[in-house]
Amino acid sequence: MHRMTTISVFGLGQVGLPTAVCFAKKGYRVIGIDEDTRKLEMIARGHAPFFEPHLAEYLKRAISSDAFSVTNDSSSNAQSDLAFISVGTASKEGGSIDLKCVEDAATSIGRSLQSTHVPQIVVVKSTVTPGTARNVVRPILERESGRTSQSGLSLCSNPEFLREGMAIRDVEVPDKIVIGSDDSLAIRRLEEFYKDFHAKNLPPVVRTTHENAELTKYANNAFLATKVSFINCVANIAERVPFADVDVVAKALGLDSRIGPQFLKAGLGWGGPCLTKDLDALRVFSKASGYSPELIEAVINTNAGQWRSAVQLIKNTLGTLRDKRISVLGLAFKAETDDMRGSISVPLITELLAAGATVTAYDPAATDNAKVIFGDRITYSCNPMLCVNQSDCCIIATECDEFKAIPPSAFAERMRFPFVLDGRRIYDANQFLKIGIKFLATGLGSVPVVPGSSKDLH
Ligand code: UGA
Repeated sequence: MHRMTTISVFGLGQVGLPTAVCFAKKGYRVIGIDEDTRKLEMIARGHAPFFEPHLAEYLKRAISSDAFSVTNDSSSNAQSDLAFISVGTASKEGGSIDLKCVEDAATSIGRSLQSTHVPQIVVVKSTVTPGTARNVVRPILERESGRTSQSGLSLCSNPEFLREGMAIRDVEVPDKIVIGSDDSLAIRRLEEFYKDFHAKNLPPVVRTTHENAELTKYANNAFLATKVSFINCVANIAERVPFADVDVVAKALGLDSRIGPQFLKAGLGWGGPCLTKDLDALRVFSKASGYSPELIEAVINTNAGQWRSAVQLIKNTLGTLRDKRISVLGLAFKAETDDMRGSISVPLITELLAAGATVTAYDPAATDNAKVIFGDRITYSCNPMLCVNQSDCCIIATECDEFKAIPPSAFAERMRFPFVLDGRRIYDANQFLKIGIKFLATGLGSVPVVPGSSKDLH
């Protein structure tokens, strides 16, 4: 495939939109298809509907170059060479995934192809449980289009591993590409497309079955969540050990090349729209297949208890939380996003409010989305320093660079009771302790008393 390739992208969310604008930047003609007309209007005007670093500039460039157009009319897919399905697969009650959007996209694609003979590869990027491409997507495509792989309609599973906050980089420089299909020619053609797209930077390509591709996506997210729950388990042990610090243990662990340094940052737990949904779906899928995945259950349960440990640390220091003022720095599920879905800040703040505390929060990007969840039950600050003013405890809930830059003295000067709970391990404890600030952190046992510090450490 070459630069004149036409690509449809069904679903312009956190995966589809970054993917579409990166394809457009490389010179392909890209048609973004989504049902949400308000979102389409924003995108057509060059405005990104969510915050993602570099997305706004990529989008503006794509729209103004005419390489990228958006529509809710799925018949525009008819002339495309590739159709990517990147719609959401939300959790249903009980944890299984809702395939409705995937089925709708497959139906639309199939119908759009009824009247053409242009060969097309349909590529499932949405996260779907093993067997979905073969047993759900393909029958719909064949039924609606009246075509099969013999008549130029091919199907590949090609899961996405991009992270929010790093989406553009991850589309452009992924660690790997996994392509699953029964159709070896389709795998070859999709690989050729990626060779053209990545040029010299083509990552390793795994060619396999649909089911292996689908399962790899779940295993990937489950393994990442396992690493985080594992280090949080070590953190909980470290907190009970004088002179222990999980950050140092994690650093030493990560130096073992068999383990690696990434995803060993202890904290309030993993959040976001993907890990929770995917681990739940994998758990339910596994059970339905006749295997009880005890490890996955433990990973989920460890995470569910993690933020509660932080609340307990606060209660141990402040006693009752009634009428205590708590400031929370960071509302989104991690830094560099405005996404509140699955954010740990939601159960954390809900618990603080239930215990009678008043909460003031600050986030550089997620305030508008947080207002939809908390309404006027909390106060929103427009900068971190106003947020911590006169509070009795400040919780660091995301790893924002903006928070890392706050000097300890700023907390000491502004708080009613200078007490920082570092739930993301962004600060050096000694810098706080030496000026007499009460400082607790996930996975930090008692730290050495700094000469000159007049305060008890724990
Ligand atoms: C995750 C995966 O990392 C992506 O590969 C995948 O494509 C994506 O889900 C998806 O399925 O769409 P994402 O949810 O954007 O990406 O964010 P992560 O960077 O994985 O972070 C998830 C959570 O883990 C965050 O709350 C983060 O704060 C937490 N985390 C991460 C830790 O607590 N410690 C760490 O060391 C790393």
